[in-house]
Amino acid sequence: MPHISKRLAQICESQTLALNSVMMRMKREGKDVVSLGAGEPDFDTPPHIKEAAIKAIQEGFTKYTPVDGLFELKEAISAWIKHEHGVHYSTEQIIVTCGAKHAVYQGILAVCDPEDEVLLPKPYWVSYPEQIKLAGAQIVEMTPGDASGLKITAQQLEKAITSKTRLLILNSPSNPSGIVYSREELAAIAQVIKRSGIYVLADEIYDKITFDDLPFASMTVFPEIRDQVIYVNGVSKTFAMTGWRIGFLAAHQEVATAVRNYQGHSTSNPTSISQKAALEGYRADKAFLAEMKNAFQQRRDYVHQRLNAMPDVHCELPQGAFYAFPNFSAYYHKSGGICSSMDLCSYLIEKYNVAMVPGIAFGMDDYSRLSFATSMQNLEKALDRIENGLADLRR
Ligand SMILES: Cc1ncc(COP(=O)(O)O)c(C=O)c1O
Repeated sequence: MPHISKRLAQICESQTLALNSVMMRMKREGKDVVSLGAGEPDFDTPPHIKEAAIKAIQEGFTKYTPVDGLFELKEAISAWIKHEHGVHYSTEQIIVTCGAKHAVYQGILAVCDPEDEVLLPKPYWVSYPEQIKLAGAQIVEMTPGDASGLKITAQQLEKAITSKTRLLILNSPSNPSGIVYSREELAAIAQVIKRSGIYVLADEIYDKITFDDLPFASMTVFPEIRDQVIYVNGVSKTFAMTGWRIGFLAAHQEVATAVRNYQGHSTSNPTSISQKAALEGYRADKAFLAEMKNAFQQRRDYVHQRLNAMPDVHCELPQGAFYAFPNFSAYYHKSGGICSSMDLCSYLIEKYNVAMVPGIAFGMDDYSRLSFATSMQNLEKALDRIENGLADLRR
């Protein structure tokens, strides 16, 4: 038997992979499966960004760069944050990483000792709990109250903090729920963070995808907690660049230095060519963002309306990102042997050829996640199938 370290043996396989393999098998069998599982924009990376990468290759820009990213890229990120949120981060405070995922991981590693507690509001993005475990820290889940619509409140946070709490992870707009914290809600949370002295890792990777002209509020804007914020963002969702693997972290200089040191011995610099592409993304015209956002908003409206029209299904209005997170629990323990989100998703894929991600993967079994990063045609087909599948359970 090969020996697997305790550290890695505790990491769970993604709960979505099992359903994915069912989907792949069904596709191989020629079945017309519609997947609402996508975690990336269905838009192509804009041509001017691709051209910047091609130019970089042709000019031989194919060697190591500084560990923490190109100076010009860090300057462009600094200018972008200033433009978006009116806050200044120096280039020394910014670390360009191999995707935002690695920025989150390094942020956790930089501030958490083993046994430190990390507060993790549910529903959470699937990688947070595994990354907290890898860091040796302890996960303390927070369940949103019924009245707060899948968000945590400042009062709840206050109660959850103990002498062992080191970090809160706050993701707005949220994957999987699409909820967005308002400035007032964040301001109240910031007060608690200030008083308690904990860090907050603000994952704002979906900040450019918000709907109904909602002014997006960033956790970076509160000067009183400036040194306690670890801000994470990247190009994956904003510029439809998931495969290029560029994210970043901006934090107190000493946190940034710790991350730079770690990155220097783990990944080294993110890909040189991708950095040039990201630079173009941050610097050049961003008109295409409005187009992408409008398409997502149209689909959001459709998906939200269709889900809530289904008997006993409730879905909060997603205010950002490209996910809907409806509550299907009224269909559990009724018929078809369905008792969980995994059962419901298996039933819908096996019998109705439509794939969603079970809510249990995000810590909330009453729900499941639908991505609307796919065409209207696919959404119509998928929602018809979900509706028929649920109708059959009511018979
Ligand atoms: C909430 C959240 N944070 C971070 C990431 C990671 O993004 P990246 O592709 O830049 O690693 C994702 C990707 O799905 C995400 O949903």
